[in-house]
Amino acid sequence: MTTHRFATATLALAGAALTTLIATAAAPLEQTRPAAGAHRTPVDLGAYLVKTMGCNDCHTPWKMGPKGPEMDMTRALTGHPQNVVMPPPPAVPAGPWIGSMSATNTAWAGPWGVSFTANLTPDKETGLGDWTEEQFIATMRTGKHQGKGRAVLPPMPFFMVAALSDPEIKALWAYLQSLPPVKNRVPQPIDPPESLR
Ligand code: HEC
Repeated sequence: MTTHRFATATLALAGAALTTLIATAAAPLEQTRPAAGAHRTPVDLGAYLVKTMGCNDCHTPWKMGPKGPEMDMTRALTGHPQNVVMPPPPAVPAGPWIGSMSATNTAWAGPWGVSFTANLTPDKETGLGDWTEEQFIATMRTGKHQGKGRAVLPPMPFFMVAALSDPEIKALWAYLQSLPPVKNRVPQPIDPPESLR
């Protein structure tokens, strides 16, 4: 658990650093900085929270654009692309390096094994379409799948979402449920090798 938290923080920072590095090259995202309290509906607030909390960073696949890597917004929040089959992760030598990430920024390898970012669109079979609002809140508050399943793996920063108020988490949910459902089956996570368990 301690390792996981550490790894999550490290990778979240690594992800942020990567984004900062390539942000200059990537096409600028549409800027929206509404005044506090200006969000008229939960969906508006949820859209703002998704944008500012970096959900796209990991849940939207990256592609190579004319100026370098950029998020593929035609696949916004659809998670690790089902057609990108990842080979086993490279072995990491002893030392301060802890893991690897895919070029899409949607597959992650580390001491927890391999994790793939989820499809957050409301597709019933492959996304959050059959989740309830309660299950979404419980996942974020407990760090367990739907509040009672397996631990949510790094680098998903559920603790950042857990720091929000209930109305804010509900707004995130309302926005995600308002997206067009996209069918994209994300693989199950893979356990780490015996030596790291
Ligand atoms: C640093 C990368 C990263 C960021 C940023 C991130 N996620 Fe995730 N997310 C992941 C990964 C990886 C998984 C898969 C974890 C697993 O399989 O246990 C995941 C899984 C999820 C799941 C499914 C959990 C489950 O139990 O099946 C939800 C819902 C989710 N993320 C929502 C969000 C939202 C909302 C945001 C923005 C507030 C966000 N994520 C930001 C990496 C990230």
